[in-house]
Amino acid sequence: MSASLTGRHFLKLLDFTPEEIRYLIDLSADLKAKKRSGEPHRYLEGKNVALIFEKTSTRTRCAFEVGAADLGMHAVYLDPSASQIGKKESIADTARVLGRMFDGIEYRGFGQERVEELAAHAGVPVWNGLTTEFHPTQMLADVLTMEEEFSRDGMRGRKVTFMGDAGNNVGNSLMVVCAKLGIDFCACGPAEQMPPAGLVETCRSIAAETGSAITLTADVDEGARGASVIYTDIWVSMGESADLWGERIRLLSPYQVNAELMAKAAPDAIFMHCLPSFHDRKTTIGEEVYQKFGLAELEVTDEVFEGPRSRVFDEAENRLHSIKAVMLATLG
Ligand code: CP
Ligand code: NVA
Repeated sequence: MSASLTGRHFLKLLDFTPEEIRYLIDLSADLKAKKRSGEPHRYLEGKNVALIFEKTSTRTRCAFEVGAADLGMHAVYLDPSASQIGKKESIADTARVLGRMFDGIEYRGFGQERVEELAAHAGVPVWNGLTTEFHPTQMLADVLTMEEEFSRDGMRGRKVTFMGDAGNNVGNSLMVVCAKLGIDFCACGPAEQMPPAGLVETCRSIAAETGSAITLTADVDEGARGASVIYTDIWVSMGESADLWGERIRLLSPYQVNAELMAKAAPDAIFMHCLPSFHDRKTTIGEEVYQKFGLAELEVTDEVFEGPRSRVFDEAENRLHSIKAVMLATLG
């Protein structure tokens, strides 16, 4: 493992070479092993990090907070109602204030330009904890999860298919990481929900160098065929209007990941989801959607979510190890 990322921002995977991404995944695995064996790894003792969340979170926030503590750091959580960000103070001013007090800053929020602006003015590493366009820390956890299943060098040449709202932050990011690492990627969904054409073009030129293929299809059979990973995400993302549910259900229901769809994938295929997920009626929104549209399971059925091929909780755990790797690599 060798790649110096000290002082770098972590804003989107397009900014990183395949070797640098490889390094971060290997470092995630190493930190996971240390955590599991109880080996102390307080490499960043005494540092402080700020966590800005303009959207809600369970995994990302907890991974940054627990990860910071594991590495010997202190984390301060800022939610939009508890700080001046945006309402009374610009992103640039906030960046310059926090950059004087903290060693690193995480940002989750809206447009990618906001995290890029924060990074331009902070003077310390800034990490993207999810924007409307990208979710890069999720991808390190996801590839680690895939490699735990298929071996460290076992993903090259395999096919990963994102089913459904393929143009959201997770679908876009999965396409980028697959292109960078030589993994075949298929976006399977309706034309309206595909990744932006410019990003597809960029990923195809990266894929041409790494030897992978980027495919877009509306055909479920084609998308699922031979896939080692079937990945999906919710149909209406944070920041989007709840009024979109009817339209999204109409467009995306054919791409629901159910047992029939999983049977079309490779025999050893695993199911992945960044979470949170609407696979039952045990959430407020899940119940509201059921009452309005009569659908009890949305992007994935409970059977697949709870089934033997599902790796969603390994994936969630890996958020911790990979977010620690990002903090350690950029602050170490
Ligand atoms: N997957 C993910 O980012 O989850 P949270 O929204 O809970 O952080
Ligand atoms: N696409 C989802 C991902 C959540 C982790 C959202 O942005 O809400």
